[in-house]
Amino acid sequence: MNQTSAKDIYYAVSDSRMERGKGIYLYDSDGNGYIDCASGSFNLSLGYSHPAVVEAIKEQADQLIHARSGFQHPLINTLASRLVGLAPKSITSAHLKVTGGSTANEGAIRMAQRATGRRDIITLFRSHVGQTMTMASLSGNAFRKASVPFPSDTGTQVPDPYCYRCFYGQQRESCGLMCVDRIDDFIEFASSGSVAAILVEPISANGGNIVSPEGYFGKLRDLCDQHGIKLILDELQTGIGRTGHMFAAEYFGVEPDGMTLGKGLGGSGAQVAAILASDGLSGLPADDHSFTFGANIMSAAAAVATLDVIDDPAFLANVRRTGALIMERMESLKSDFSCIGDVRGVGLMIGVEIIDADGRENAKLTNHLADKAMEFGLIIRTSRNGLGNVLKFRPPLIITADEATLMCDRFEALMRAHGM
Ligand SMILES: Cc1ncc(COP(=O)(O)O)c(C=O)c1O
Repeated sequence: MNQTSAKDIYYAVSDSRMERGKGIYLYDSDGNGYIDCASGSFNLSLGYSHPAVVEAIKEQADQLIHARSGFQHPLINTLASRLVGLAPKSITSAHLKVTGGSTANEGAIRMAQRATGRRDIITLFRSHVGQTMTMASLSGNAFRKASVPFPSDTGTQVPDPYCYRCFYGQQRESCGLMCVDRIDDFIEFASSGSVAAILVEPISANGGNIVSPEGYFGKLRDLCDQHGIKLILDELQTGIGRTGHMFAAEYFGVEPDGMTLGKGLGGSGAQVAAILASDGLSGLPADDHSFTFGANIMSAAAAVATLDVIDDPAFLANVRRTGALIMERMESLKSDFSCIGDVRGVGLMIGVEIIDADGRENAKLTNHLADKAMEFGLIIRTSRNGLGNVLKFRPPLIITADEATLMCDRFEALMRAHGM
């Protein structure tokens, strides 16, 4: 395998050649193991090659990999009812004929547009809601939009609840959640006035691990109700146990009209995604949003096996416990290193914001730390959709306390060598 070359691959790839993975570790062709703080592309909720997922895929591959989604299959039926059963009570059905997060978000938007007869979508600054042309247009950063030849004109982006760098220059104690109140102005003066939905990540993931403050979702829900706007939660990264709860909706106590899922639902990397819909989003014809690789039976086997592991109070309690342990270590590093401006997170979704001496974002140092991380046995990714200065710690949810301690030890060594 080492003799092969990447010269025919369209995009640039790193020099590292990865050969196998187990648990929280990814191993290169020289046998070096790296703790993957990014769980692959934030999708390996159960880490690399979880035995239950591998077994489920192997067994199902022998039986039936794919059948047209117009037929029933016990695994598809089971996955749909498990997801509906676990979701907030507003959710009544699951649409599985999507291929990933981008097509799930597009489908949820189409459902909202059809249900309301309106067209506009509100998203947040720094959001990353996908990379199809529509979703790149709706993501809240110029570099995403700039890459789109035929941008969607339905989007309005509004300031996110980034309390550490509040757009309105407020302090949380006295702001009255201006970031929600002012959405009224954007509806009135920046949209077409015909807003179908607000699509929001409960914790802005690639935007910088931005955790919305207490009360944000209650107020956003009220605003949506006042305007007849559908509230859709993009739970691509926050869902399936990442926050120590099955869904972040549960942690924030919000009843959305729709939710989108993917990434961690596949456990160890199976391609599976879903739109969860309330009755208020019903009515989109079956063939209006249906993809060949959606509702894949082999992936459904992986997803059901993943839910079997994660839907366990002891498992979710461990996510909260290891998350608290990592947060505590990061907080203590913050007192040692002036370049750590903020540490924030919920469960195993943690961000470390890197700043310069004046408190401004220090993307250069952040990238340097991420580049050097592999020399310290870590894979760390940064917040490119935001200011690029947040190191993201979202290891597989199966991480043990000892492994979490080792991850923090390695990060501390990295900081001592390259931090400030
Ligand atoms: C929050 C969020 N939404 C949507 C997407 C798009 O998902 P996909 O890459 O599966 O299309 C991503 C991908 O990173 C994401 O992080």
